[in-house]
Amino acid sequence: MQSAVYPSLAGRTVFITGGGSGIGASLTRAFARQKANVAFVDIARDASRRLVDEIRQDVGVEPLFLACDLRDVEALKASIDTARERLGNIAVLLNNAANDDRHRLEEVTPALWDERIAINLRPMFFAAQAVVPQMRELGGGSIINFGSICWRIGTPDLSIYATAKAAVHGLSRSLARELGVHGIRVNTLSPGCVMTERQLRLWVTPRKQEIILSNQYLKRLIQPEHIAQFALFLAADDSAVCTAQEITVDAGWA
Ligand SMILES: NC(=O)c1ccc[n+]([C@@H]2O[C@H](COP(=O)([O-])OP(=O)(O)OC[C@H]3O[C@@H](n4cnc5c(N)ncnc54)[C@H](O)[C@@H]3O)[C@@H](O)[C@H]2O)c1
Repeated sequence: MQSAVYPSLAGRTVFITGGGSGIGASLTRAFARQKANVAFVDIARDASRRLVDEIRQDVGVEPLFLACDLRDVEALKASIDTARERLGNIAVLLNNAANDDRHRLEEVTPALWDERIAINLRPMFFAAQAVVPQMRELGGGSIINFGSICWRIGTPDLSIYATAKAAVHGLSRSLARELGVHGIRVNTLSPGCVMTERQLRLWVTPRKQEIILSNQYLKRLIQPEHIAQFALFLAADDSAVCTAQEITVDAGWA
């Protein structure tokens, strides 16, 4: 596949949460290839370091990896400060990290509820809050919050994650309203069933792939790169007047 080049992304500072593996790794790669200055945070140190090495060899640039547990809001803010010091004001924020570990309804305690919200929703708000002054200095920016189709299609054993993912829409729209006056755009990007290494390892068996394909209008499996290509467009000036939108990339779902 020949992919688009977005000249407006070259030299821009991009901050990605969970950029070390899965869709996040595709985002890190895709923005590095656009010659953006990429910083990413992740809890997975080994995978993240391998990704940095791979991108250095393939693309010739080195994304900035900052080890950070997003459940720690102060650590997240410190990482955003470091990214600005090293790479300049952040123009694009991708709130991508999540944890979709399954749980049964009866297993949920208040502590588990808080912990899952602390990874699947809370960092999106506080990362946005922290980058807004930088985006205002730049005269604008793009925030992309990752949603999911799971709460619409009723994926089982995921009620906290699904609640957080539904809430992302409200977060994006309210921030878009508040920040539009500063030229800051906020959109939700909701992937369908994406064949990340984690999904393939834990849940997506060949039988599940058949079910996914029978549900999708397009009879091909979605790869992380398909999502990254959409994120590039939402980050670039090519989508300059697109804000408060919910964009779903799910190959069509019956
Ligand atoms: N893969 C799919 O099929 C799918 C479907 C719908 C939505 N999504 C959404 O797309 C986004 C990316 O999903 P993915 O499948 O690539 O996820 P993934 O689990 O494969 O990757 C998530 C990344 O976030 C990191 N992370 C997890 N907890 C963290 C923490 N506490 N602190 C810092 N980093 C942490 C992980 O190490 C990992 O690198 C998520 O928002 C997810 O909800 C994915």
